[in-house]
Amino acid sequence: MVTAAPHLYPHQWSWDAAFVSVGLAHLSVARAIVEWDTIFGAQWATGMLPHIVFADEPDYFPGFGVWGTEIAAARPDGVESSGICQPPVHALCIEQLVAIGRAQGGEAAERADAFMADAVPRLARWHAWMSRARDREGIGLVEIHHGWESGMDNSPRFDPFYERIEVATPKALPRTDLKYADASERPSDREYQRYIHLIDQMIAVEFEDDRIPAVIDFRCGDVFMTASLAASAEALARMADETGDADLAATERARAEHARTAVLASVDPTTGLCRDYDYHAGHHTDVASIAGFSALICGGDDAVVARQRAILTGPQWMGHPDNRYPLPPSISLDDPACRPREYWRGPVWPIMNWLFAHCALQQGDTALASGLREAGLAQLADEEFGEYYEPRTGEPLGSHQQSWSAMAALDWLTADRWR
Ligand code: SER
Repeated sequence: MVTAAPHLYPHQWSWDAAFVSVGLAHLSVARAIVEWDTIFGAQWATGMLPHIVFADEPDYFPGFGVWGTEIAAARPDGVESSGICQPPVHALCIEQLVAIGRAQGGEAAERADAFMADAVPRLARWHAWMSRARDREGIGLVEIHHGWESGMDNSPRFDPFYERIEVATPKALPRTDLKYADASERPSDREYQRYIHLIDQMIAVEFEDDRIPAVIDFRCGDVFMTASLAASAEALARMADETGDADLAATERARAEHARTAVLASVDPTTGLCRDYDYHAGHHTDVASIAGFSALICGGDDAVVARQRAILTGPQWMGHPDNRYPLPPSISLDDPACRPREYWRGPVWPIMNWLFAHCALQQGDTALASGLREAGLAQLADEEFGEYYEPRTGEPLGSHQQSWSAMAALDWLTADRWR
């Protein structure tokens, strides 16, 4: 595996690894496929792809022992993993890996095609799990049970969800992350107590999908996960067309449509932005974050997309006069909740720039795609490959040498489709 970062994240993270495989494919398709052997080797019997596959590296909290997934019946024997998932960007990344392999021709192309045939049924099980276990009420928004599942761990999006969690017995927190990143750029202890509390609630029901919703304090219909599922389901449908599986192609197109409908239904008519859903409270939430632009990930309504594009490129987000580069921050600098150095509470994330650029290109918006690419590359020219960046100064924050940030640069510089 390629670890998500050398010190701070010494294991394989699910969506990090999916993105990283696209970068690896430019160097070696065979090596990129090895990355997927690890991801898919950890797939649970339910179809879930776990958010961390652990390497033999004890210097991380919360490690395998804290996760308690040794009691999870669905976890494959001998593979240490966490018990939650991350955004389903896997199929859209594999589609790119295959395209890169084909463009190289020869053995790389053959390997890419053979890999695609192997990957398609595994991706189908992953998507089917997400619909079955995480859309139980048929609302269409993917339900998450932990901020870590969103990948945007401590985004203010989740404050209303975390605020209601009372941790009766706070635990010792061996915050190994603070050895490798500045505490002011990381989530707080108070946040970590709640993170661990949710893991304990899942352990109590042995990570069984059917029992978690009744006991978990955190139930969020995540609009960004849902838009990612829609984009990936479209990618999987195109791959199923190629492998001749018409039934799967139809299933995935229906899944994409269902997800897109929920994303578009979440749009606040006043702000124009997409909203998460609070299952406990029974309503949408109203925190404005980068996830609010989820219609740009999945498309589906030209008017909604055009409005979100205008807001994203406008003076509160990419076009903010204080920005170092015209890139989208995780929270608008104008928002009183914005903390421009703190993880998902303000900074610019290179991987988000890549994903929004990728989806813009997919939807034919070459102007937005090339704008994000150019500014994203200018930011990464510091060659620090920061995990995230201060929007006003362009200072790299969090981990440096973050694998997925390097992937963004590698793909933007190398892949034919950006030209
Ligand atoms: N991103 C989280 C961490 O900080 C967990 O997935 O380790």
